[in-house]
Amino acid sequence: MPSTRGYNNSVPAATADDDEPDFVYDVVENDPDPAYVVTPENEHEFFRVVCDRELNTIQTFYLLPSDQEELRRYAHFHRMMFLVMGSRNYVGPVQQILTAPTRRRKRILDVGTGGGLWCVLAMEMAEEFPNAIVYGADVAPIQPRLVPPNCNFELFDAQRIPFPNEYFDLVHARCVHIGIRNYPEFLREIARVLRPGGIVILAETEINALSEDKMPIEAGHTGGAPGWHALWDQYRRCLAGHGVDTSVPTRLRALLSDTNAFDNIIAQEAAIPIGFWPKGKSNPGLLTIGQYSWMEQDLFLTALRPLFMSYGLTEHRAKVLIEDAQHDLYYPNTRPYTCLHITHARKRSSWSPPSATRYQ
Ligand SMILES: C[S@@+](CC[C@H](N)C(=O)[O-])C[C@H]1O[C@@H](n2cnc3c(N)ncnc32)[C@H](O)[C@@H]1O
Repeated sequence: MPSTRGYNNSVPAATADDDEPDFVYDVVENDPDPAYVVTPENEHEFFRVVCDRELNTIQTFYLLPSDQEELRRYAHFHRMMFLVMGSRNYVGPVQQILTAPTRRRKRILDVGTGGGLWCVLAMEMAEEFPNAIVYGADVAPIQPRLVPPNCNFELFDAQRIPFPNEYFDLVHARCVHIGIRNYPEFLREIARVLRPGGIVILAETEINALSEDKMPIEAGHTGGAPGWHALWDQYRRCLAGHGVDTSVPTRLRALLSDTNAFDNIIAQEAAIPIGFWPKGKSNPGLLTIGQYSWMEQDLFLTALRPLFMSYGLTEHRAKVLIEDAQHDLYYPNTRPYTCLHITHARKRSSWSPPSATRYQ
């Protein structure tokens, strides 16, 4: 019997009991009502149009689009991330955790899955770990409809994850902090749904215009990138105005540690070039990374219009900000970078959530 959770569900139901034999089909224990069920008839209700772009309707302070153009941006970003992580989709002991023999099926959750590429693009998690079930969750139903049987997309606001305690072996959350108002609470929610010994992987890019040495990029008109600088400044102000803590990317390790729910916390960072200029025989992949990130940033600039205008900027001001940043991107006087932070950690066996936060 197909489950009715979320949508696009090709996974038949059975039981999640740990005593079940391997690879029985999966179902959520005490299966709660799905947060949202998407059908062809009601799908339009999950989108609204702002400045000619489609945005989600579930979580209205996330003001980046959820449309085809934004999906193209995610595709560039996903490929760039794959290269940054050494032609893999993860860091840390993921293989060890997901392939360790157990009597139950392993489960993976990708929070803020976007186009679901991390879950289901060729050779992605659902294919690499065919014996695990991969759940991708988002506030917009923009994922592919034809998926392998071990992949399932869900629609919900991940600030509260509608799954039971200790349900997942891996939780992955990449570039979602701008859709989360209380990130420490979000980490406790991730800890709640992770099994003891399970792994969380967080990846966030800094909300800053940086140069190669990770210092703020020069704003000066000669040799600097004033348009680029001004746009990132405004982006940060808009996010802060919507209650988002833009310091999260640089504090992932400390925030994980503060929960007391995780150990083996490993934080890594990478300076990502944005442009077509990286050279060097020692790292030919860097040029490709720079190209993907340039293409991603090009789409990102125009994606900011709904956020800028919802913040109260005039159409003219938003246009000038974007055009000036485009100028610095297309005709660079300087080499811009972003700083990517990737942190992973294991859930402690000794931690249990305060009873009030248990999912009922
Ligand atoms: C920048 S995209 C990143 C997509 C994907 N993780 C990736 O790395 O390519 C952020 C995604 O998170 C989703 N999102 C934002 N806030 C969310 C929330 N509170 N709960 C669930 N999804 C959220 C957005 O709809 C969007 O698809």
